[in-house]
Amino acid sequence: MFSQQELKQQAADAAMALVLPMLDSQAIVGVGTGSTADLFIDSLIRHADRFYAAVASSERSAQRLIAGGIRVVDLNAVTFMPVYVDGADEINLQLEMIKGGGGALTREKIVASVAEKFICIADGSKLVNQLGSFPLPLEVIPMARESVARALIALGGRPIPRTGFVTDNGNEILDIHELTIVDAKALETAINNIPGVVCNGLFALKAADVALLATNDKGVYRI
Ligand code: 5RP
Repeated sequence: MFSQQELKQQAADAAMALVLPMLDSQAIVGVGTGSTADLFIDSLIRHADRFYAAVASSERSAQRLIAGGIRVVDLNAVTFMPVYVDGADEINLQLEMIKGGGGALTREKIVASVAEKFICIADGSKLVNQLGSFPLPLEVIPMARESVARALIALGGRPIPRTGFVTDNGNEILDIHELTIVDAKALETAINNIPGVVCNGLFALKAADVALLATNDKGVYRI
């Protein structure tokens, strides 16, 4: 039996094998946030001579990349990014995801939107039939926390403010429990339209292109 950490490592290694042929001396790699993304960053550091730079989806990932000697560039300077690699809190067979457990959802969604391909890496426990057991994170403008919370209660959720947490963008996070997510794209659109919501953690309108899920029984399998 592999530990969850070993499974995350296997998924990160599988992503590196997929990413390496996409790289050249000019290539810029999009990098996610979280414990699985950290393992991918460590692998990128070992292959620092194979690409030009990275764009980070959080200050935390930027620090890890820089500490490993990787050049980190501003997304505004990037016109082409072959790939973005990140973890997920939940993913379904349509490769729709809930992300933002680490609170980096807004920058993650922005960087992912620029990349040609989104590779999701996770241990197999993240695969679900229906999204929503994991509370859906929303980044909100602080003055709108309560009005957004009321709107989410009207949608059937139970919002809980993430206390003591400020995003890299200076905003707050509401974690929405008990949402029934039948149509993830429709819900992502509906929540985006609530004034004061900066971003929600549903990645369905632009889902992942590839998922690499590491399991004890099937090894790393690709969806
Ligand atoms: C951070 C994220 C992460 O990708 C997600 O929380 C998964 O993290 P981990 O790899 O630590 O399980 O969305 O905002």
